[in-house]
Amino acid sequence: MSVRPPRARIAAPDDPDALAATWRAIGARWGAGAGIAFGSPDGSDRRTARAAAVSEAADAVGAPPRAPEHEADGRPCWPAGWTGSVSHRAGVTIALLRRAGPGVAVGVDVEETGALSVAEAALVLSPAELEDCRAAADPAAHATVTWSVKEAAFKAWSTVAGGLAGVDPLDIAVDWVGYEVVVAAVGPLARRVATPALVGDVRVGGPLTLAVVGTPASRGASAARGCSGVGDRR
Ligand SMILES: CC(C)(COP(=O)(O)OP(=O)(O)OC[C@H]1O[C@@H](n2cnc3c(N)ncnc32)[C@H](O)[C@@H]1OP(=O)(O)O)[C@@H](O)C(=O)NCCC(=O)NCCS
Repeated sequence: MSVRPPRARIAAPDDPDALAATWRAIGARWGAGAGIAFGSPDGSDRRTARAAAVSEAADAVGAPPRAPEHEADGRPCWPAGWTGSVSHRAGVTIALLRRAGPGVAVGVDVEETGALSVAEAALVLSPAELEDCRAAADPAAHATVTWSVKEAAFKAWSTVAGGLAGVDPLDIAVDWVGYEVVVAAVGPLARRVATPALVGDVRVGGPLTLAVVGTPASRGASAARGCSGVGDRR
């Protein structure tokens, strides 16, 4: 066993400029457009926040500026040629948008740091992953970021696969190589996804945990199929 806690820290959400700068820098590392929106006293709701975050992400990479429609399972349906991901938590909405291509995937997740206790994580983390959590300086923070990586990976694979129902969280294996996160589809999931090995990029600190999981930025981009969007659900 080796414990390799996430190395970087992010600004707290009460410092939105710093958090936004961090998120945009993460997007640049992925060759992607990053957008972020904050819940505000003026009553920004989920749909408004999603539209703002996606619009900023689209601007950054010259993508069509519209927010995704959704398939019946909640999966976003991006414009042809693009793929991306959205996550909301604690008044923060993040979006990442990158050029699509064969096997190109990306998923994002934001969680409240330490939200998942190790006891709760026992339902969704493998014995090896739990062992890492228990040995970490902050077991709940480690459990939460591991779960967040799984959620981001699920979104990445689900979006590219055209839907992934009934995934066993234990079929998403998270490991740390140095400070890098490696995510593998194992068991039955490995036969359902085109790119069973993904890499992750995480930031933990202050109240928020951010995770991006996908194929590396160098993966080629080319035409991608559109999807049958069934309209915005919210
Ligand atoms: C779908 C799911 C990933 C959403 O995560 P969450 O933490 O509840 O919520 P988040 O705010 O982080 O993400 C919500 C966004 O995920 C995206 N999303 C929803 N369903 C999705 C799906 N089936 N595939 C890919 N992305 C999806 C949407 O963009 C949504 O935001 P939007 O409606 O504003 O566009 C989560 O509910 C889930 O995991 N469901 C299935 C259970 C499962 O198999 N999980 C495997 C994890 S190991």
